[in-house]
Amino acid sequence: MKRIIAPSILSANFLELGKDISMINQSDAEWIHFDVMDGVFVPNISFGLPILDQVKNVATKFLDVHLMIANPDQYIIPFKEAGADNITVHYETCPHLNRTINSIKEQGIMAGVCLNPHTTVDLLDEILPYLDMVLLMSVNPGFGGQQFIESTYEKIIKLKKMIDKKGLSTLIEVDGGVNFETGKKLFESGAHVLVSGSFIFKSENPLHTITNLLNI
Ligand code: DX5
Ligand code: ZN
Repeated sequence: MKRIIAPSILSANFLELGKDISMINQSDAEWIHFDVMDGVFVPNISFGLPILDQVKNVATKFLDVHLMIANPDQYIIPFKEAGADNITVHYETCPHLNRTINSIKEQGIMAGVCLNPHTTVDLLDEILPYLDMVLLMSVNPGFGGQQFIESTYEKIIKLKKMIDKKGLSTLIEVDGGVNFETGKKLFESGAHVLVSGSFIFKSENPLHTITNLLNI
């Protein structure tokens, strides 16, 4: 089964972001996870278009943009133009989700939907065939370094059954509290993409941590 590690640069050293990006470039991570927070949908403000615009010039990996913002529709084209290879929007912020997903795919990039821990996968039944990926939050969005929510494993198993039943190849990404212990069980539960921020960037050797996470 496809396995991808996506380091979240929310936990990177912003005073030496170029160094952290080149570490990821040399690593076994296939993606870079880019956490955009607006202080409205989530109680934190992170970074946005000007940073992505510079990251894309030095990053050699797939840019996986996670929009934790209240009005994602108006930022799809700007983030695509700033270098996004995937845009994931939150189910909780999209009253016209089918239109939003179509507008992302019209940009020729991957389209994902993210569910907060309290949002059931059942709500994805109609939209699932349109999605390239589902991102399941295993923490409440807004911060790195939080406690992993254990019910995420069951949620993955339930989502995987929905995907298999429809004969789809939708990727399952998990985000928050990923480490060696949770990562192993997440892959075993059926996750394809693991986002990890603090566990990677706070480790002794991030390059080795990424490789070991991939091969857990
Ligand atoms: C949280 C972000 C996550 C976060 C992961 O809102 O979406 O990507 O950066 O951080 P860790 O791996 O430290 O839980
Ligand atoms: Zn994220």
